[in-house]
Amino acid sequence: MMTKEEVVQLLNPVKDPFLHITLEETGGIKQITIKEEKKHISVKIAISKINTAEQMQLQQEIVGILKKNGATTVGLRFEQLPDDIIRKYQPAAEQSKEASLVGGNTKTKFIAIASGKGGVGKSTVTVNLAMALMRLGKKVGIIDADIYGFSIPDMMGIENRPAVRGKKIIPVERFGVQVISMGFFVEDNSPIIWRGPMLGKMLNSFFSEVEWGDLDYLLLDLPPGTGDIAMDVHELLPSCKEIIVTTPHPTAAFVAARAGQMAIKTNHEILGVVENMSYFVSKKTGEKEHVFGEGGGKKLADVLETRVLGQLQLEQPYMEEEVFAPSVYQEDHPNGKEYHRIAAKVIAKMEE
Ligand SMILES: Nc1ncnc2c1ncn2[C@@H]1O[C@H](COP(=O)(O)OP(=O)(O)OP(=O)(O)O)[C@@H](O)[C@H]1O
Ligand SMILES: [Mg+2]
Repeated sequence: MMTKEEVVQLLNPVKDPFLHITLEETGGIKQITIKEEKKHISVKIAISKINTAEQMQLQQEIVGILKKNGATTVGLRFEQLPDDIIRKYQPAAEQSKEASLVGGNTKTKFIAIASGKGGVGKSTVTVNLAMALMRLGKKVGIIDADIYGFSIPDMMGIENRPAVRGKKIIPVERFGVQVISMGFFVEDNSPIIWRGPMLGKMLNSFFSEVEWGDLDYLLLDLPPGTGDIAMDVHELLPSCKEIIVTTPHPTAAFVAARAGQMAIKTNHEILGVVENMSYFVSKKTGEKEHVFGEGGGKKLADVLETRVLGQLQLEQPYMEEEVFAPSVYQEDHPNGKEYHRIAAKVIAKMEE
């Protein structure tokens, strides 16, 4: 009967069906158990994508190898390789596909901001996370992918339109953040009617026709829910990570979980949960009042097996005379400081 070492030797050259490199290189052989008397070998294998037709083929291949070498029965279990390994060995073709979306830049990291329902502060979080990343020295862009309910230009107080250079659109820069929004391409703020297939095309041109420069981070403000756009983003940007926004009410978290489940189903890593409108600080007593309930963020993070990145209080940005940007929190605003902490966590996670 074979030893564990021999099993490793036999399986090392087998290739991961998607990464097209050997299990030796991916570290995909996770566990081997040998039952001498029954000639039974069970193995746990990690591959880049599980529950696929390719996995079935691989299964046959491995069982074949082990039986040919003396096993009577073989038990096989599969699990998914860690994200960083997949990223590291992802076929160059796939990486450059994403890179071509942002003008050949492979270092740009994509983060989508999602929520289960509307009005919880997705766009506010997108804008202020972008600002905080920028304040931490990162080059940041925003795609306002909420093409029905675009709001980023108004929130940041953007009044000018993108310039066009040759066939490329130059994003509008505001506070050092590059912004592109459907709002730039409609007349007099009128609503637009989109049909299914157009949505994906629109998103595509936000990448391919826009000259983004060498961004570190590109944030996508998704429309609420788990609709077509979210699907398109998952298709277009397989490496895109996700942040889910919720309010503290437990039922809100329940709805938000659906957006999260969708990310999980499409193999998109969730960076964490941002709980918005968490509490109100009483002007009189300085005490926190949990006007919208409590615990929603934590509950959601538990369901999605992730963590709460931060909690924002109910409070508008300070009013300023000189700059009009109604949804941008100042650096010294309590929420500005919280966004700073959230951004630091995001960077630590994305660049670990
Ligand atoms: N922490 C907060 N304190 C006070 N007001 C807030 C806070 N967060 C968001 N708001 C306000 O709540 C409203 C909804 O926020 P926002 O537009 O960011 O939500 P959304 O999830 O993007 O909504 P939609 O689904 O319509 O796109 C806005 O008027 C915003 O200014
Ligand atoms: Mg919005």
